[in-house]
Amino acid sequence: MAGLIPQAFIDDLLHRTDIVEVIDKRVALKKQGNNFTACCPFHQEKTPSFSVNQDRQFYYCFGCGAGGNAIGFVMNFEQSEFPQAVENLARDAGIEVPREESKTQQRKSSENAIIIEVLELASKFYQYQIRQHEKKSSAVTYLQERGVSGEIARDFGIGYAPTGWENLLTSIGTDDKRQQSLLRAGLIIERNQDKTQNKITDNENSRANGRNYYDRFRERIMFPIRDSRGRTIAFGGRVLNDDKPKYLNSPETAVFRKGSELYGLYEAKKFGEKFNKLLLVEGYMDVIALAQMGIRNAVATLGTATSSRHLNRMFRQVSEIIFCFDGDDAGTAAAWRALETTLPLMEDGRQVKFLFLPRGADPDTHVRAVGQDKFLEELSSAPPLEQFFFDKLSQDLDVNSIEGKARLSNLAKDYIRQIPHGVYGQLMLDRLSELLGVNSESLEKLLATNSPAQESSSPPAENLPPAHPNEWQRSGRHQNLSSNLSVYRKPASLKAIELLLRNPEIALAVSIDLKPLRTAEDEGRKLLLSLIEMVKKDPNTETFTLLGYCYGTSLGNQLTQLLTAEKITPQEGVEDEFLQILDNIMSDIVKKLELLQLKHDLQSRLYAPKDQN
Ligand code: GTP
Ligand code: MN
Repeated sequence: MAGLIPQAFIDDLLHRTDIVEVIDKRVALKKQGNNFTACCPFHQEKTPSFSVNQDRQFYYCFGCGAGGNAIGFVMNFEQSEFPQAVENLARDAGIEVPREESKTQQRKSSENAIIIEVLELASKFYQYQIRQHEKKSSAVTYLQERGVSGEIARDFGIGYAPTGWENLLTSIGTDDKRQQSLLRAGLIIERNQDKTQNKITDNENSRANGRNYYDRFRERIMFPIRDSRGRTIAFGGRVLNDDKPKYLNSPETAVFRKGSELYGLYEAKKFGEKFNKLLLVEGYMDVIALAQMGIRNAVATLGTATSSRHLNRMFRQVSEIIFCFDGDDAGTAAAWRALETTLPLMEDGRQVKFLFLPRGADPDTHVRAVGQDKFLEELSSAPPLEQFFFDKLSQDLDVNSIEGKARLSNLAKDYIRQIPHGVYGQLMLDRLSELLGVNSESLEKLLATNSPAQESSSPPAENLPPAHPNEWQRSGRHQNLSSNLSVYRKPASLKAIELLLRNPEIALAVSIDLKPLRTAEDEGRKLLLSLIEMVKKDPNTETFTLLGYCYGTSLGNQLTQLLTAEKITPQEGVEDEFLQILDNIMSDIVKKLELLQLKHDLQSRLYAPKDQN
């Protein structure tokens, strides 16, 4: 696993990189006075309000408030995370990114490597059993009856966990260390630990001969769940009959997080073809059956609802997702929930469709019933998100009546507001205004007037980050920048960071003892301390270096917004304001510490043994 990128490297990279070059490669810039300008790549505009300042190595859009240094630009432009943006810039600069691993990281990654190793061994074991075990025929027949060919079984690494409580335990768990790894991989269970799983009868127990563990998966068809690099990180196991539970999944482990993994993603990527769309289905067998029918780009969540992590992973591979859930009430409900999760991710260029199956069908039964050609045809004519969205919202409404229109606009607007700024959101608005029979300008006004008003009355607490990571950006959707910033009262620490980022030299005026700040748990306060210390250590530290540091922290993505108020805050008095805020923060901390101390003193006095002293 990649480690941390050393701060010194980031500084160096920023010094070697010219933001004008970086941006000009992606958006054609025009020189204008001291700055360079262009139409903003982050929102739709006809006249340029996007400007790049070469001296300060900083970009800023007066239209939408986007701003930051070269790293921030690449993150924003390429929709990448901080480490990826650094990698890209380093590649352009022709240098390699060094990684440093902390001691805990090193330990963790070697522990994970051991877990992955036994999972791989287990996968080989299960695959061997389906070929060699004396009772393999039950598994083989089951797969045959479900129409799974040997080729598909091999591609997906399908295996068989035979009957018996200690098959895996005795063949892989050969020593104590191995058993610990099997346990951490979720493949064996400690006896008496999990009473509900443990259905061992006395008879079997005595046969078990007092061993401490038993196999989790027994008498099941085994589906290895592989990460995007193809490493087995967990298993799903299906019974061969109608027993319950039908499927048993590995528990969450250090290498397996259910809520973000997609079954079949690795297999789809590995398949010879480069796909531009992915199909999201519910079950293992849906993925397998579709593959069997020549549709190799289906993936499944692992019995959990579709999360934005799932979707982000898919959108990293393709620009189009087609949801294809079971044709039952649960499937329809899952489709709407998936739509809700998708809206905030609907950036321009992305497409989402919904294929609804006949009642009682799932992708497995359906593709087998209609065949590949018909299924592909259905996929290509599946209704797009916007159609499902408006159909569903207007389902029980009379959109021709005034009341119906009011209801519809009410229902729709909160959803539409979640769509990122861009053409797609505009199209949704256009469609809504069409349905309502009003022009889109008056609709936008309507949305802007009775929109995030409530949000301003309840500013987020001092503790960051806000509930939604894009909260600040979102609130600005129908507003200009200054009102956007005023919607939220910023926590004091962020206000101080904002001033410091724009005027790094003010940190040099700090003369008070910052020790109490070290005890702060709040992210904003911690970051503030680090930034002050950076400038004190090197008085020539510049805005872009500080920003580079910020991007690497959990607050990073939100901080570009802070730099946008350039025109609003007057330059004079900045230092005083900064010191004043810092004073306030410090006295707040000191007060809290004193209270704690007082409480502690009182307690020790109350509870101190009488005969002491
Ligand atoms: P079959 O066709 O009967 O093999 O199953 P399916 O692939 O159609 O699965 P189904 O639609 O019943 O369930 C969808 C997914 O939910 C499965 O692939 C599993 O990931 C999960 N699932 C289903 N049943 C169970 C269960 O009993 N326990 C657990 N943990 N997960 C389940
Ligand atoms: Mn099924």
